[in-house]
Amino acid sequence: MKKVRLSLKGRSYDILIGRDLLRRAGEILAKLALGRDAVVISNSRILRLYGEAFRRSLAGSRLTARFERVPDSEKAKAHRTAVDLLDRIAAYDKRKTLFIVAFGGGVIGDLAGFVAAVYKRGVPYAQIPTTLLAQVDSAIGGKTGIDLPVAKNLAGAFHQPKVVISDISLLKTLSPRQVRNGLAEIIKYAVIGDRRFFGYLESNYGRILRLDDKSLEFVISRSSAIKARLVEKDELDRKGIRAALNYGHTIGHAIETAEGYSDLIYHGEAIAIGMVVAGRIAVKMGMMRPAELARIKSLIGNAGLPTKIRSGRLFAPIFAAHLHDKKFIRGKNRLVLPTGIGRVRIVEGVPDSVIRGALKEESVS
Ligand SMILES: NC(=O)c1ccc[n+]([C@@H]2O[C@H](COP(=O)([O-])OP(=O)(O)OC[C@H]3O[C@@H](n4cnc5c(N)ncnc54)[C@H](O)[C@@H]3O)[C@@H](O)[C@H]2O)c1
Ligand SMILES: [Zn+2]
Repeated sequence: MKKVRLSLKGRSYDILIGRDLLRRAGEILAKLALGRDAVVISNSRILRLYGEAFRRSLAGSRLTARFERVPDSEKAKAHRTAVDLLDRIAAYDKRKTLFIVAFGGGVIGDLAGFVAAVYKRGVPYAQIPTTLLAQVDSAIGGKTGIDLPVAKNLAGAFHQPKVVISDISLLKTLSPRQVRNGLAEIIKYAVIGDRRFFGYLESNYGRILRLDDKSLEFVISRSSAIKARLVEKDELDRKGIRAALNYGHTIGHAIETAEGYSDLIYHGEAIAIGMVVAGRIAVKMGMMRPAELARIKSLIGNAGLPTKIRSGRLFAPIFAAHLHDKKFIRGKNRLVLPTGIGRVRIVEGVPDSVIRGALKEESVS
């Protein structure tokens, strides 16, 4: 097992990465003394696969457990679901010493974290992420949130978990497309902060896609550590340090919006293209050598992720959507651009003509 510490004074916690950790989760949670009564938020798919194992692990540590099921997919982040959960938890919470456990992918993590942040103005919670994306990204750092009818992730709070338990054995039941979805975020970490790690990914992406235990443990720990260091320096995302994590995301979100947030494109696929477009913008602005972009693009392509916008017809809706990005500052765009593999810079006011040009060049004509 590997351990990455995220240090934030009284809000510090461990991120544990390894095989068969679910079996030990009860013991780990009991030791932390978060409470005696676990409210586990999950969905039917995950509980069918791993519910019994988790139930046994909790029972073995004398923690009581109540399992709350929410719908599968992004639907679970609707404000209705959050309010229903709060009602159910409040009815159950009679003389209980409860804490919350997010047991699922990023959707469950964001929702359960949000409920933990607002119930009684904050109760302790643990993250047990079950997708590769959640293990390397969403379970770490305390950003919680739900969707509102007008936009995704529009209501939220910062609330750090007390522990993150990343059991790599749970990833075996993910579809290959879900694995690639997480790999896109791993590539992002390498480009924003670790050139050697990028080299490792170039030689080992095949092992990761085959879910080789050693490679998974390594890339999840390395990614967790890169994210942890950024969160430590800028917990509330106000200093422009944590913002580096948005590499590929401004254009990526615009692509997701243009595709109507459908299964046509997963988040990781959208940011894969977003990373290429941001790289192209950097090259056009003379900030990065074309050879660096070529390496980024070829790793993304080798990993089985898309590198191009699938149709020139999407170009106009993507450009329009990017204008509504919530990270715009006083009407000026703000993009995370690589200056080379392993380093990024945040640039404001990139000319529209450069963005349009990069989008066109990276579209299938
Ligand atoms: N808070 C943050 O910092 C942050 C960062 C990145 C993404 N996010 C959020 O994360 C969400 C996306 O997360 P995701 O990609 O994990 O999607 P997800 O939670 O929808 O999971 C994808 C699918 O895989 C299933 N699944 C989960 N674990 C499984 C397993 N072990 N085996 C088989 N199937 C499994 C889920 O039921 C679901 O159908 C988005 O809502 C996004 O906004 C948050
Ligand atoms: Zn992302």
